[in-house]
Amino acid sequence: MLRLTSIDLNKSKIDTLAIAVCEDVDIHDDPKIKAVIRRALKLKEFNGEKDEIVTLYDVPDIKAQRVILWGLGKLKKTDREVLRSMAGKTVKHCIKKRLTSLYFAVPDPSLIKMEMSAVLEAMQEGAYLGNHLFHKFKGEEKKRALRQIHFRVTKQVNQKMRQLSLRVVAICEGTTQARDWVNTPSNEKTPEKLTRSIVNLAKKQCLKVQVLNEAQLKKQKLGALLAVAAGSQGKPSLVLLEHKVPGAKMTLALVGKGVTFDSGGLNIKTGTSISDMKSDMSGAAAVAATLITAAKLKTKTNIIGAIPIVENMPSGHAARPGDIVRSYAGKTVEIGNTDAEGRLILIDAISYVIKRYRPQLLIDLATLTGACVVALGDKIAGVFSNDDDLAAGIIASGEKTHERCWRMPLPEDYKELLKSDFADMNNISSTRAGGAITAALFLSEFAADTRWAHIDIAGPAYLKSESAYCGPGGTGFGVRLLSATIRDYSNI
Ligand code: BES
Ligand code: MN
Ligand code: ZN
Repeated sequence: MLRLTSIDLNKSKIDTLAIAVCEDVDIHDDPKIKAVIRRALKLKEFNGEKDEIVTLYDVPDIKAQRVILWGLGKLKKTDREVLRSMAGKTVKHCIKKRLTSLYFAVPDPSLIKMEMSAVLEAMQEGAYLGNHLFHKFKGEEKKRALRQIHFRVTKQVNQKMRQLSLRVVAICEGTTQARDWVNTPSNEKTPEKLTRSIVNLAKKQCLKVQVLNEAQLKKQKLGALLAVAAGSQGKPSLVLLEHKVPGAKMTLALVGKGVTFDSGGLNIKTGTSISDMKSDMSGAAAVAATLITAAKLKTKTNIIGAIPIVENMPSGHAARPGDIVRSYAGKTVEIGNTDAEGRLILIDAISYVIKRYRPQLLIDLATLTGACVVALGDKIAGVFSNDDDLAAGIIASGEKTHERCWRMPLPEDYKELLKSDFADMNNISSTRAGGAITAALFLSEFAADTRWAHIDIAGPAYLKSESAYCGPGGTGFGVRLLSATIRDYSNI
């Protein structure tokens, strides 16, 4: 759907050409593009200010039905994210106008003061992701995605950037797959159905797949995970995906929280807090999609994906507040609150992966706490880690991809708050204060001395309203972040 092209603007007929324009500096070097920008800037309504747009028809020397000029604002503030957003918003604009294809004029790297690869990567990501629609359950008023999105570059750039383009497409496909999984309602993604869906896609990409079913989970004694699943009709699973590379020096494990619906269990959620809990498997979606993407990209690191999948429901079979369970690692846990279920399934998945695969690095992704959203708002994820290099690597990747992350502390003395009178630990803290931190500290006990990071994505995984290159709902947060981390930091 994304294409690099080197067409002649006055020879090839096209329907729509989009040009990004800065208000203070000309960022294009093609004379025909410069001429049409001059023409647009003469109009009162267009100065190139941020998100100003004007559409021109029948422009001389350019065989386009229409040319859309899109303001970026000042050059100094024009970074990857501004370009990504511009591309996403332009695509959305064209979808609304019922257009079917689009050409972007790519700015000149030296004029925009960025690497060509950064410019193209950002614009292609924004365009691809902005073109994604989740309309499986819509009838008549279905929107239509654009069929082709072209990026006009010189012949040399075209040759040089082919690989990058393929990489962007693979990562964006992963991101939209994660969004689709998250947006799917819980009745259509029971634990069994989500397990099937992940397994099917993983097998298509030749990942090694193993699923531990309920009987095997019982036999292997993943007692904390099983306790969460007990109240649901849906059967739990632990999905293990392996991207194996012969001769690879290290193994990275990714663990993703897969609660297909979080009702809270017997500590049932009230009011609006229950309403978007179909998204409580966003960590699982991101981890599965990242593994599928890594297989497509033939990534050179060994990666294990461990995805515990359960539904958290109240019933006569459900775990009760006060119940004590034995985790896979052997520690007993008092379930102080059945709504703190994510950490229960994660500790068993983390312990299992460490015991079985001995990974050098482990990263878990989870919509773990409302407290993290209170702390950082809904666009920034919290990063907790026992390893400074790993945390710095994740945060740097987040700056590149604009999946923003902020380091949070793991204060040793707060572990006091997780004490239980009757078991080795309680799954909730004795105070509400610092809820994201105590949740992370609970996990840290099970990561033990493995280099580990926990990313709390409760905020950014699911956004009620649409943004520049995402529809309302699942964002696919984590797929671009983890893919960048794997590429740039897998040797730390
Ligand atoms: N899935 C929720 C966390 C969540 C909240 C995700 C809002 C997305 C948006 C998690 O299982 C949960 O219920 N956490 C509790 C923990 C508490 C019982 C200690 C919370 O945050 O209130
Ligand atoms: Mn919960
Ligand atoms: Zn949850």
